[in-house]
Amino acid sequence: TFHQRVFSGMQPTSTLHLGNYLGALTNWVAMQETHECIYCVVDMHAITVWQDPADLTRAIREVTAAYVAAGIDTKKSIIFNQSQVHQHAELAWVFNCVARLGWLNRMTQFKEKAGKDKENASIGLYAYPALMAADILLYKATHVPVGEDQKQHLELARDIAQKFNNDFGVQIEQRGLATGNLGFFPQPEPMIQGPAPRVMSLRDGTKKMSKSDASDNSRINLTDDAETIAQKIRKAKTDPDALPSEEKGLEGRPEAENLVGIYAGLNGQTKAQVLGQFGGGQFSGFKAALVDLAVEKLSPIAGEMRRLLDDVGHIDAILGDGAQRAQAIAAPIMRDVKDIVGF
Ligand code: ADP
Ligand code: NA
Repeated sequence: TFHQRVFSGMQPTSTLHLGNYLGALTNWVAMQETHECIYCVVDMHAITVWQDPADLTRAIREVTAAYVAAGIDTKKSIIFNQSQVHQHAELAWVFNCVARLGWLNRMTQFKEKAGKDKENASIGLYAYPALMAADILLYKATHVPVGEDQKQHLELARDIAQKFNNDFGVQIEQRGLATGNLGFFPQPEPMIQGPAPRVMSLRDGTKKMSKSDASDNSRINLTDDAETIAQKIRKAKTDPDALPSEEKGLEGRPEAENLVGIYAGLNGQTKAQVLGQFGGGQFSGFKAALVDLAVEKLSPIAGEMRRLLDDVGHIDAILGDGAQRAQAIAAPIMRDVKDIVGF
């Protein structure tokens, strides 16, 4: 079997939000106890849509600070930014030549992000999933904790791994580079966990909470202060009914389900437990409790981020050290890939 290794990443495109926190970061922190973990700031993914360069530099540091503030421990885990390990770009090119156009044509995130004017989308935005496959497989990572929105991309990474293993099966075999009968690359497993794997917009329970949403009221940012968090939760869309006392009462009530899921995620509970406490009550009371909980959990993270960002040199040192440790794993794997391909 392959060595158990976790890889995941976030884009430094703007401030991280509650969806990133509950759908990914909290799980990343937990996985440090059981796995070897590599957490990347995926700056090369960020530029698939236009980024102001100065904003990008700032966002790379801010996401790094968010990782550390949320509880990623650099003694246990590797934190680095993608562009500092050139093998990501090298392997992505090989994978661009392994992946088929038809596979990428099926990616729903491209359709959403490219919008109506597809002719004007960057080639990078289209090829994004091949770079993501390279990010993961460059470390032969076996587990990828992500939100539900990334599931389709993970399936593509598995297809790419399998096609590479098949296309180059003879070369892999000849060089003794297969792990048992599993081939050169593992099939990375998505790990979609927790009570809030898909946090929805506070304004529309049918859309996911996202930094690309034009309305800032649709999301809670990790850097929001207590008053902003309170206002956003008070304004969050709900329906007129009381909270149900059982989970099936949330069916067809996306906004209610979302707020209950957020509460559960922040408090490390299940939705059923939350409803056990608040079922039968009105939203006004529940929202007040949610404000208190969100402020209690998120304020220390925002405070720690501010403290870390006061010392940019320290952040850059974390990234520099992480890049070296990442490269120590990536370089020999990329050398094998080049050998296998015939370079
Ligand atoms: P965004 O979708 O806001 O651009 P990223 O693509 O950088 O964010 O995603 C970073 C991580 O956060 C991924 O693991 C993704 O699955 C997770 N994530 C993003 N939005 C949500 C959400 N609304 N609910 C749960 N997880 C999310
Ligand atoms: Na995403």
